[in-house]
Amino acid sequence: MASLQIDDMEENLFSGKTVLLTGGSRGIGKAIANAFAQQGARVAFTFHGNSEAARQTFRDMPGKGHMALKADICDPEAVKELVDTVMKEFGQIDILINNAGVFVEHPIDEASYAKWQSVWRETIDTNLIGPANLLHQVVPHMISHRGGSIINISSRGAFRGEPRHTAYGASKAGLNSLSQSLAQELGPYGIYVYAIAPGFVETKMIAHFLEQEEGQAAKAQSPLNRVARPEEIAETALFLASGKATFCTGAILDVNGASYLRN
Ligand SMILES: NC(=O)c1ccc[n+]([C@@H]2O[C@H](COP(=O)([O-])OP(=O)(O)OC[C@H]3O[C@@H](n4cnc5c(N)ncnc54)[C@H](OP(=O)(O)O)[C@@H]3O)[C@@H](O)[C@H]2O)c1
Repeated sequence: MASLQIDDMEENLFSGKTVLLTGGSRGIGKAIANAFAQQGARVAFTFHGNSEAARQTFRDMPGKGHMALKADICDPEAVKELVDTVMKEFGQIDILINNAGVFVEHPIDEASYAKWQSVWRETIDTNLIGPANLLHQVVPHMISHRGGSIINISSRGAFRGEPRHTAYGASKAGLNSLSQSLAQELGPYGIYVYAIAPGFVETKMIAHFLEQEEGQAAKAQSPLNRVARPEEIAETALFLASGKATFCTGAILDVNGASYLRN
């Protein structure tokens, strides 16, 4: 007699579910795309300019029916087209993960006024207004479908401060506030909204930094003497979207190895 193993059930936790994920071509987004695909979800992920990385991620993903879509989340029209395309193909979006982001250095005592302006604009457009526009386009579908999960990838920098990257810290603080306001607004619709606030994560975004002397110091900020692996952020996202964490709606989950503890 055939028996269903616990492992089989766990492998298919997200079977029949659909995910729209921004910035899935590399880094944390790639780990998230893989994790949800591994658990049976169909994943539509976006990339911006790096089509080779996107192609590789797409090839490596387990399962079928995934989509890789080129879209600039700073462009409101592209965001609308993106959601229309995914809805046409998937019919619904169960889980939205706002992960794409930029981290651009612009020290106030070094950056020219023009550079200061352009980095602030790029950072707020990508890390805050892009996610806000995506939410505007996706949430009505979730309301019609009577539920959904939204995960915004924030940062420890929103709380701890982000010297030399002030626009980044501000953009993530804004993203936290957006997440918490929508958790309250969307709870009655069965839509749960979470943010994940990682400390350093070992991705290309900070690879150059981790190799330097300051990189060792960054690892030492955690009593575990290391930074996070992208898979650890992906596992947190799986838990939040699993349906087992609905009462955590509105939470901002720190994944920083106790490197920064806030009250
Ligand atoms: N790494 C860390 O230490 C760390 C720590 C805390 C929080 N985070 C947050 O985690 C998220 C992912 O970070 P990561 O380190 O994995 O970044 P990453 O390796 O630099 O990847 C960034 C992703 O965002 C996409 N992207 C950038 N600008 C875009 C735009 N305008 N439109 C659409 N997609 C765009 C990129 O696409 P292309 O590949 O096509 O360029 C790429 O897929 C970010 O929100 C970041 O702020 C990271």
